[in-house]
Amino acid sequence: MSEDRLPTAILGASGYIGQHFARLLADHPWFAPPLLGASERSEGRTLAELWQLTDPPPEPLSESRFEPLSPSALRRRGVRVVFSALPSGLAGALESDLVRRGISVFSNAADHRTDRSIPLLVPEVNASRLTVLGRPPRGRGLLVTNPNCSAAGLVVALAPLLPLLAPRAVHVSTYQALSGAGFPGVPSLAIQDNVVPFIREEEEKLARESQLLLGSNRHRSVVPLATPIVAHCARVATRDGHLEAVTVEARRRPPLDRIERALREFDPLRPRALPTAPSPPVVLRTEADRPQPLRDRWAGAPARARGMAVSVGRLRWEPPYLRFFLLSHNAVRGGAGGSVLNAELALDEQLLPRGRG
Ligand SMILES: NC(=O)c1ccc[n+]([C@@H]2O[C@H](COP(=O)([O-])OP(=O)(O)OC[C@H]3O[C@@H](n4cnc5c(N)ncnc54)[C@H](OP(=O)(O)O)[C@@H]3O)[C@@H](O)[C@H]2O)c1
Repeated sequence: MSEDRLPTAILGASGYIGQHFARLLADHPWFAPPLLGASERSEGRTLAELWQLTDPPPEPLSESRFEPLSPSALRRRGVRVVFSALPSGLAGALESDLVRRGISVFSNAADHRTDRSIPLLVPEVNASRLTVLGRPPRGRGLLVTNPNCSAAGLVVALAPLLPLLAPRAVHVSTYQALSGAGFPGVPSLAIQDNVVPFIREEEEKLARESQLLLGSNRHRSVVPLATPIVAHCARVATRDGHLEAVTVEARRRPPLDRIERALREFDPLRPRALPTAPSPPVVLRTEADRPQPLRDRWAGAPARARGMAVSVGRLRWEPPYLRFFLLSHNAVRGGAGGSVLNAELALDEQLLPRGRG
């Protein structure tokens, strides 16, 4: 492991996304093991004590303790890169403060996602967004956001299909896992024996953020995709992995084997060899009953990219309608893994300082 890995911290490290960050960063080849920031509620507790994921806590960090980490403390302790898993509303001002102090931030929170001067990024889909915006002014850090967890999976599946199908509209219905609501999540009596057909602002975010990610760069801004994305979002009683039923109304009518080939061959990050990039990013399932949350949530290779691939199945082509299901891990592709991949792309693009500097 190289000694010039960048010093990092996780804010919101005791939460669901924060623990996934800890899992991914404990032994990362480019980023040093993180400091663990949380509120006073978790101060002094170890990662192992508050661990909630099904994998065991990562050995190198399991006895690390949570601590409140202010921007000045992060600066003093030499942190160069912060992974933010703070609640939206709280995150925005704090993240801006960190950037002003020269610390780069990779955020899961919604606060900065609609500011078009800040990259909203899924590297397989719009890596050019990062290069267009370029290096932050001297003395400032870079701020990069990743999208809402259901948009993250949808855009990876749609990116290879758009040029082939030139859609008139995309309709999507989601079956979203409980962990999408973080800790402590949905009360058990509200979800057992039930499906809740409402997640606050989710349909709006899914449509708006997918259109931004699939849009085009114009100067330093982005023109959203004009195709309507029409969403229904529901909460179901699975633990991890958002299932989405997608119908694309197409203008063009390529043969089915071309559509399948486009999905299978899509791998724009392969030449960069980023550690958390799944290769391929879309796994095409041909069984009659896949993808399923229980069986496909951890799709993705190599091992570091487990949970980063989007599984697509039940592909049905009755022009003008292409129908399929997709499954993506909300807390990995749609959360911590997405942010780590964004940071790897930024480092690969030389937009972050190398080493401890
Ligand atoms: N869950 C998902 O699938 C998902 C996917 C994509 C994006 N996101 C976004 O990611 C962020 C984190 O979500 P989550 O599901 O991980 O939430 P969560 O489980 O509720 O975790 C929230 C974290 O924020 C910390 N926190 C809360 N108030 C704080 C304060 N005043 N000062 C310092 N730390 C504070 C908590 O620390 P304590 O435990 O010490 O209170 C905890 O570590 C949110 O913005 C969410 O919208 C979530």
